[in-house]
Amino acid sequence: MTEMSPRWNLTGKTALITGASKGIGLATASSLLALGADVIMVARGKEELQRQAAELQKTHSERKVISLAADVSSREGLSKIEDGTASFEKIDILVNNAGTNIRKKTSEFTSEDIKFLLDTNLLSAFELSRILHGKMKASKSASLVFVSSIAGIGSVLTGSVYAMTKAALNQLTRSLAHEWAKDGIRVNAVAPGFIRTPLTGALMARPEVNNLLDSRTFLKRVGEAEEVADAIAFLALPAASYMTGQVLVVDGGMTCLTAQGLLDI
Ligand SMILES: NC(=O)c1ccc[n+]([C@@H]2O[C@H](COP(=O)([O-])OP(=O)(O)OC[C@H]3O[C@@H](n4cnc5c(N)ncnc54)[C@H](OP(=O)(O)O)[C@@H]3O)[C@@H](O)[C@H]2O)c1
Repeated sequence: MTEMSPRWNLTGKTALITGASKGIGLATASSLLALGADVIMVARGKEELQRQAAELQKTHSERKVISLAADVSSREGLSKIEDGTASFEKIDILVNNAGTNIRKKTSEFTSEDIKFLLDTNLLSAFELSRILHGKMKASKSASLVFVSSIAGIGSVLTGSVYAMTKAALNQLTRSLAHEWAKDGIRVNAVAPGFIRTPLTGALMARPEVNNLLDSRTFLKRVGEAEEVADAIAFLALPAASYMTGQVLVVDGGMTCLTAQGLLDI
């Protein structure tokens, strides 16, 4: 039997993933478990979270799968995570994935909408990174990954507030990579394109949207949650030990497209 290189293995590591009961977060929990990590899964809905955690525990019986129901956009939720991780000496991997969107024209956003999106997508990730900084430092080789979006790099007209939160995460990635390198913490982001998850299900069910997305993507299809999860897992691995401050785009080529249909070669 060939032995797995320690550079492609997460045995002995503990990962905390927010938004882990569905979509990209759930797929990330699965990818990290498969590489040998123990996982702490966070989401608001307790029942669904516990159901998904129990499923993953069944397939990874030798790993620890912990569920922690908390709302990362609230002070109480963040305190719950702080208390729930107090007994851990270290956290090796933090995936700030929880996020959502409200698709509206800019002039139609209420101040409640704006606060909700800033709290859920941006401030949650900023605050949780600060809360767990000491535990990541204790790891001596931690990996912090933000789940951003191509909407934070170019315009995809999916709502300006969402785009603003994701662009801010990209800058936070570079700032923390610089500031926390001395603490042994690598900081990167993954910027997915259009991925099939509960968040995008209704949008992608519209044939005109699906066709448009296919035609604007080199790979001629939308992405699947595990295709983003595996990019996150790569950034978490010792194999990515020289990568920090990067925003890794996982979009089937969408952001490379500058001219379409001019030539057919
Ligand atoms: N899908 C895409 O095409 C796409 C593209 C680019 C970027 N992204 C980003 O990828 C991330 C995951 O998206 P997804 O498509 O997988 O979304 P999803 O299918 O809607 O899943 C979101 C997860 O986050 C949890 N969550 C939402 N708000 C939360 C909160 N305040 N506190 C704790 N957990 C919360 C949800 O569970 P509860 O509701 O039970 O809390 C769920 O587990 C987001 O940051 C999104 O912006 C997605």
